[in-house]
Amino acid sequence: MNKILVLNHKMNMLYDDVYDYINQLNNISTDMNIIICPSYIYLTDFVNHSDWGIGSQNVYHEANGAYTGEISTTQLRSIGVEYSLLGHYERTKYFHESEVDTNQKLKACLEGNIIPIVCLQAQSNDDKKTLTNKLDTILEDIDHIEFIIFAYEPTDAIGQNKTLQIDQIEETCTFISEYLQNKYHTRPNILYGGSVTNDNINDILAIDTIAGTLIGEKSSNYQYVTNLIDQIEK
Ligand code: 13P
Repeated sequence: MNKILVLNHKMNMLYDDVYDYINQLNNISTDMNIIICPSYIYLTDFVNHSDWGIGSQNVYHEANGAYTGEISTTQLRSIGVEYSLLGHYERTKYFHESEVDTNQKLKACLEGNIIPIVCLQAQSNDDKKTLTNKLDTILEDIDHIEFIIFAYEPTDAIGQNKTLQIDQIEETCTFISEYLQNKYHTRPNILYGGSVTNDNINDILAIDTIAGTLIGEKSSNYQYVTNLIDQIEK
């Protein structure tokens, strides 16, 4: 499978810049599977005009009802959104979401035909037991993982210009991969996110157990993305 590049815009971009961005990214030529996660309010524009996969940055676990301000998997599907980020670190930090919430959202995505990109939040120095406990909670009552994309995003590397050592990324992603493979007999898709830049992206993508990377708010700048792709294609 081609490697995946997820662009998590976070709360960035104004409407005036949306079509410039979409057109610039449509001109990119690469074998990577690009998935763009813009703000909710631009999802329809992206779905209708972008050549790349489109994901939301969050979703609510109920299908419909009196949940002011929330958006469901069925609503996302109804406009053609294919992916959703779940359990991002900033959802925990600012909105107090837990792994139990991520588990509910994950079940809603699998039922609602949205491909979940499940963020595993951990400190880079968390021990293996902590990682597996978090995974077990997120995956409670989940029988299959082939439709799930996992994202290992060490919280101390997000938005910090401080990436982990390549060895450390490889060791943790390989551990997660083996753990999930033993449990589900399926090779999982695992992305790495956290201060991925021009300088380290090729080394990260070269890791066998890594299916791709996530880029944070810098990815809302099309020049940044085109430079990154140029670096990958070199
Ligand atoms: P940065 O690329 O800014 O470190 O953010 C990573 C991230 O949060 C992707 O979801």
